[in-house]
Amino acid sequence: MTSLKDKSILLIISGGIAAYKSLELIRLIRKSGGHVRCILTKGGAQFVTPLSIAALSEENVYDDLWSLKDETEMGHIRLSREADLIVVAPASANIIAQMAQGLTPDLATTTLLASDKPVLIAPAMNHKMWDHPATQANLATLKDRGVLSVGPDEGDMACGEHGMGRMSEPEAIFEAISDFFFKRPLKGLTALVTSGPTHEPLDPVRFIGNRSSGKQGHAIAAALAQAGAHVTLISGPVNQSAPAGVNLIKVQTAAQMLSACENALPADIAVCAAAVADWAPEQASTQKLKKREDESAPTIALKQNPDILKTLSNHKNRPQMVIGFAAETENLLENAAAKRTRKGCDWILANDVGTDGKTFGADENHVYLVSANGQDDWGLTSKTEIARKLTAQITGYFTDHEHKHAAE
Ligand code: C5P
Repeated sequence: MTSLKDKSILLIISGGIAAYKSLELIRLIRKSGGHVRCILTKGGAQFVTPLSIAALSEENVYDDLWSLKDETEMGHIRLSREADLIVVAPASANIIAQMAQGLTPDLATTTLLASDKPVLIAPAMNHKMWDHPATQANLATLKDRGVLSVGPDEGDMACGEHGMGRMSEPEAIFEAISDFFFKRPLKGLTALVTSGPTHEPLDPVRFIGNRSSGKQGHAIAAALAQAGAHVTLISGPVNQSAPAGVNLIKVQTAAQMLSACENALPADIAVCAAAVADWAPEQASTQKLKKREDESAPTIALKQNPDILKTLSNHKNRPQMVIGFAAETENLLENAAAKRTRKGCDWILANDVGTDGKTFGADENHVYLVSANGQDDWGLTSKTEIARKLTAQITGYFTDHEHKHAAE
């Protein structure tokens, strides 16, 4: 049994006959040395008692959003802040819908909405409820937001019917919890990720930039780090916060971004998600450029910026896996395939940005993975899901190929 020593889990027990299995889950977590604190919903309390939960978890049980006593002692904010992982087991169709919609009728849902902690759900419901498009749409929303899930299983239900919807067994949920904490398929690998725009100064107050938000690059850095890679995130000016466990290097210009990338070598993986400015003013004025008396506009001479993706792809210390992006407004796949060859990278994530600029700053993107083997349509999906899929592809690559140990 994996040790969960020093790991703290907030277990939300919602309504369903499967709640009795959560008692066994509490026992398994405690047996492995983990700490578990429970929130019991009104529905959950129909199936298990606070007393059995308190006895097994050796902790207070929280069930009331409006309890003055609980709020002064603990409070819903602290309940989630002190957890490393929130597990919702059983996760009823109702709590899944509330999570997807951001509703907060009780302590469990309020805590979930007030939290930025990773969440794992173990759905449990009647098979018709599971199959219903509403539940499936809610699950897709949660998945896009990065919520992890385990199960359900197929089998006989308490209601006498048979189908998908039985909550996974406590052992399987415990294993999913262990995987969350310890499965690190990219452990031992180093990655560098570029993100955001670059700002190329015209003078001390003006610059040439673009609308890149850094959402995609930051999400990729977070997903690689979650998979165990040692990640250096080299980012232009953005409003995103640094993902947990990532070494963030902030830069302004393309030249600074390139030199930070070269300093981060050797690395096993490079993902160039930054929207690097193609040109920079040939000379940045050291003083603010003034309006002219004769009202003429200055002519700004531009110089070509270094191509970071191309430089890394052809570097003497080339990372084993180099991945770029291609934002195209026409002939998406032809242009992306040509770009892959021209730059010398392994994979290109191609996305059609249209001509309305809506991809920049959006949470979703429609991408294709273009490799030497052709192209794979990933459909319209969230940037976090793209990051997770890319991380899974990279993991697959390093499972199939010998790792050349760049960092040694
Ligand atoms: O040539 P284009 O800008 O369309 O290529 C996009 C890809 O190249 C992206 O992965 C981007 O991060 C990378 N790139 C770069 N340095 C540049 C221009 C683009 O790394 N100067």
